[in-house]
Amino acid sequence: MTLDERARAILTGNDRGGYTIPTAGLYPYQWNWDSALAAWGFATFDIDRAWMELETLFSGQWASGMVPHILFHADDPGYFPGPDIWASGTTPPSSGITQPPVAASMARLVLEADPEAGRSRIAALYPRLLAWHRWFMAHRLRDGAVCVTHPWESGRDNCPDWDIGMAGVDASGVAPYTRRDTGHVDASMRPVKSEYDRYVAILEWGRGAGWDADRIMADGPFLMADPGTHFLLMRANEDLAAIARALGEDTAEIDAWAPILRAGCKTIWNSDLGAYDACDMRSGRFAGIVGSGAFLAYCAGAARPELDAHLTRIWDAVRYGIPSSDPQAAHFDARRYWRGPSWPFLNALIARGFALSGRPDWAERLRAETADLIRQGGFNEYFDPTDGTPCGGKDFTWTAAIWLTWAGRGAAKGGG
Ligand code: SER
Repeated sequence: MTLDERARAILTGNDRGGYTIPTAGLYPYQWNWDSALAAWGFATFDIDRAWMELETLFSGQWASGMVPHILFHADDPGYFPGPDIWASGTTPPSSGITQPPVAASMARLVLEADPEAGRSRIAALYPRLLAWHRWFMAHRLRDGAVCVTHPWESGRDNCPDWDIGMAGVDASGVAPYTRRDTGHVDASMRPVKSEYDRYVAILEWGRGAGWDADRIMADGPFLMADPGTHFLLMRANEDLAAIARALGEDTAEIDAWAPILRAGCKTIWNSDLGAYDACDMRSGRFAGIVGSGAFLAYCAGAARPELDAHLTRIWDAVRYGIPSSDPQAAHFDARRYWRGPSWPFLNALIARGFALSGRPDWAERLRAETADLIRQGGFNEYFDPTDGTPCGGKDFTWTAAIWLTWAGRGAAKGGG
């Protein structure tokens, strides 16, 4: 089997009927940004299935416009915390928090893959995408910066960026629970217990607040500005505006968001560090971390020379970019989830930023390194950036998707 064939087999193998799971066992439900990436992958060989993926994701959109980070279409006891713990009271049952908004960006790429086939599908999806972005602008901004109310909302669960915010979370009231993730993946590659206790504590607080987005923003136990989500929303707003133009819709509302978020870039610029940095909005303190979320600035036209310097320093310190945290910092942990590993799907998003901001050389270097990781190690969730060891879940949907759309599409080596 060629790698292209294997990638397609992973996407179809993870298909549960209208939606894909990220990987069997570890993540048995529909995850928000995983699904958006899956749609992009499906667009290379089954355009109808690509649109269906996004449509199923938006079937779980809340009346508020929020799109949950997990949709629990069918119960699976192999995952914790499942639908009973979140208690969303919605159909389908879901988590009560969101995830980085990449769906509009992926919808634009799916549309461009076959504009004719996509016309009616995007027309129906557009108001839903707009409603989600509107929700972000209304319910997740502080000082113009996009915030996360739970580390899971960032998608970069245990990156060191969140350590200062997590330190203030009281997990003493959390009832005993059984983790399921470490039954699927080696514990040394997953978040530690003290982090998990806090994840559950923040969840329980949100549930107690009836998942009221504004109450959680105002008083919840965790609130940090997230460079990653901030830049992805800026990118996605641009992509949503492009979709709107293709549909002949008025873009005034979307255009008005750009200066707000551009101004918000100041909130997440740590001038002592010379980098975009997560900021704890409860204490006003910066995390002091150069994480991979900062390098999504290239997607948003927000690059700065100091950031270029951090990027090249960090990238040159490993064999396979882009590490999820700074390999020259004490907290770096090469195989532990978001505390060091390189993630192929994030590389694809970062490389799109490089290409859009006039650095095709960086885009090609990152593509080639990501392709090497997958050729040598398979379609894993993430990889040790120092030696390429495959880590986390296997046969991963978004790794397969970005192989088909990007990493495997090198001019020199071809796709197979
Ligand atoms: N990534 C989280 C987990 O590990 C949830 O989004 O379960």
